[in-house]
Amino acid sequence: MRKQIAAANWKMNLTLQQGETLLDTIIATPHSLTDNQQAVFAVPFPYLAMAQQKLAGKKNVFVAAQNCYSKKNGAYTGETSVEMLQSLGIRYVVLGHSERREYFNESNQLLAEKVNICLEYQIQPIFCCGEPLSIREANTQNAYVTKQLEESLYHLTAEQLQHIVIAYEPIWAIGTGKTASSAQAQEMHAFIRAQLAARYGAAVANNISILYGGSVKAANAVEIFGQTDVDGGLVGGASLIADEFVSIINALKK
Ligand code: PGA
Repeated sequence: MRKQIAAANWKMNLTLQQGETLLDTIIATPHSLTDNQQAVFAVPFPYLAMAQQKLAGKKNVFVAAQNCYSKKNGAYTGETSVEMLQSLGIRYVVLGHSERREYFNESNQLLAEKVNICLEYQIQPIFCCGEPLSIREANTQNAYVTKQLEESLYHLTAEQLQHIVIAYEPIWAIGTGKTASSAQAQEMHAFIRAQLAARYGAAVANNISILYGGSVKAANAVEIFGQTDVDGGLVGGASLIADEFVSIINALKK
């Protein structure tokens, strides 16, 4: 059975002290995670060790990085390798977030290299895809998302693909307060799963978690996560507020 995941994406927010307080408050607020559910915290690089330490031993709770470099090691000043993340015990890396694609020119080809190196070091990518508003308005979002998946993921074997989490994040819904309707989310998630099934078989496709991202909050999480092919969310703004994020964890399907 595929995992239901509530993933917090802090982006470039919070001081160390604010991050510590946020994690402490979330840990102290009653929430429950079944064996099939996970909470993931994608925190800024300087806070990874702190988050690992605070969340150590918490069942089904994991830390994620928000990026990594595509090379193993070497003279790449300012970059962070997957081996470094592995040595900290990090479980996930968010890859291909639209902000990285847009502001840091990350291409589908570069993301394929990052996916490969993560898998080599047993770190699971949370691979983001999703279309801008102009593409949605032209109703060509399916082809757009297909190209992103094709160029960054479809070279993987079925065994490798099982270690990927996909996050569908329509860019027009990120940080805008404008959420895709639950029907729009379900439609795209079902489309992605059908594609995975066509390439890798139904058993593999049914095992892959596909998260929705874009203005998820406590008030809409139950409805969005309730869709058949939505397996949780990647949450930005609302993940910075302890009560909101705990409600989002509690909204995951059992
Ligand atoms: P948002 O961000 O929840 O603030 O819209 C989501 C994301 O970018 O992952």
